[in-house]
Amino acid sequence: MKASCAAEGYVGAGVSSRLAAVRMGLKRPLIFLGPPGAGKGTQAKLLSERYDVPHLSTGDMLREHVSTGTELGRKAKPIMDRGGLVPDDIVLGMVEERISRPDCAEGFVFDGFPRTMPQAQRLDEILAKRKFSKPVVVNFRVDDDVLIRRVAGRRVCSVGGEIYNIYERPPRDDSRCDNDGGALIQRSDDRAEVVRDRLAAFERQTRPLIDYYRSTGDLAEVDGSASVEVVSKKLLEILAEHGADGNRA
Ligand code: AP5
Repeated sequence: MKASCAAEGYVGAGVSSRLAAVRMGLKRPLIFLGPPGAGKGTQAKLLSERYDVPHLSTGDMLREHVSTGTELGRKAKPIMDRGGLVPDDIVLGMVEERISRPDCAEGFVFDGFPRTMPQAQRLDEILAKRKFSKPVVVNFRVDDDVLIRRVAGRRVCSVGGEIYNIYERPPRDDSRCDNDGGALIQRSDDRAEVVRDRLAAFERQTRPLIDYYRSTGDLAEVDGSASVEVVSKKLLEILAEHGADGNRA
């Protein structure tokens, strides 16, 4: 499919926010870098559905551990609640186990990983060891004032994980998901006082990765402040330009 028409099938918010599913895997793993609220999760979900590959959000994995009360979750919770980054060894163990599963064989989309230089360097080793191609890394650029408004307005379906925004992408019913009727919740780390610390953690620990991936020639950039539809279309163009677009019929 040509990138220019690839966003067809994307028709709006909530239940109908879908790129046409083409089920063709990805030739290269994808990494989405960007600050909180940049739209990484929204776009990762759409692309993973389109290409039929797993959406690997380390934030979602950690929240799952917190909600099921595992030991890992008990360690991570206080760090996440104050907007810090969970230790590298915890996150790397989780990721390495996840990408060893068969459903990752035809590619995957990382959302919010890696976030530190040790994570990025270890990921290079893991991908090489498992014979994956080099990743395509997309940096989402968005100004802080937009990020803060987006995070404040975010609501997430407690059942299927659909992401809404009360300002920009509201559900039909304020408290229920359009797709499955699940209760919509606000993340505990989306409180204004925590968001500042999350932004600071991004600047201090994650921003250096932009230069790292630029130096390896794997970096592409998107203006994440554009509409969801425009960002989706740009991502499909990036995948095509970087030879990542589909590895099965
Ligand atoms: P994580 O869950 O990864 O959060 P994050 O990176 O801070 O990113 P967000 O989920 O806040 O934003 P997003 O970019 O996905 O935006 P979204 O699409 O939802 O991490 C949470 C915590 O877990 C971390 O603080 C840390 O403690 C820990 N953690 C996770 N990974 C880790 C790692 N690798 N190492 C160590 N610790 C780790 O969109 C936001 C809102 O905007 C939504 O309401 C959406 O509807 C709306 N929106 C999206 N796109 C648009 C658009 N184009 N126009 C208008 N509105 C839009």
